[in-house]
Amino acid sequence: MVQKILFVCLGNICRSPAAEGIFNQKIKERDLENFFVVDSAGTGSWHVGNLPDKRMRAAALSRGIELTSRSRQIEENDLYQFDQILVMDKDNLEAVKSLTNDNKNPVNSKIKLILSYSKKSQLDEVPDPYYGGQNGFDKVLDLLNDAIDELINSLID
Ligand code: 4NP
Repeated sequence: MVQKILFVCLGNICRSPAAEGIFNQKIKERDLENFFVVDSAGTGSWHVGNLPDKRMRAAALSRGIELTSRSRQIEENDLYQFDQILVMDKDNLEAVKSLTNDNKNPVNSKIKLILSYSKKSQLDEVPDPYYGGQNGFDKVLDLLNDAIDELINSLID
């Protein structure tokens, strides 16, 4: 059965496109491409239609990952379309949950912080790199790399 995975951040130009790219690279390496559909979205609409930030594209490319997605804003229907929704920080978590006003909705159980999968990092949230320097983008990739290995392991269990 195909599992549908959505990564979410604020702008959908830095963290969540990177998560999408890393996930795609890993399932390709592990020959698991037929088992997953992956996408990313932002809670905000400022960058809709744009490619990922060029600093993130450069950081990802230096690890052999080309980021070609276009920013889109998450919508309520995504909560029903996807099986797992992995968010970067607690603001994203609240924003995604608030897309439905039904608190008992079973969708809440499929929305998680991506770093809840990380075994190496003590952080709960992937820091927003947008207003920082280039090393913030490399840090995001390191955090996501570890968490996404564990995410995939849990999904194929
Ligand atoms: P992202 O980073 O949520 O990881 O895509 C950001 C991108 C843009 C903005 C903030 C964060 N912004 O304020 O435009």
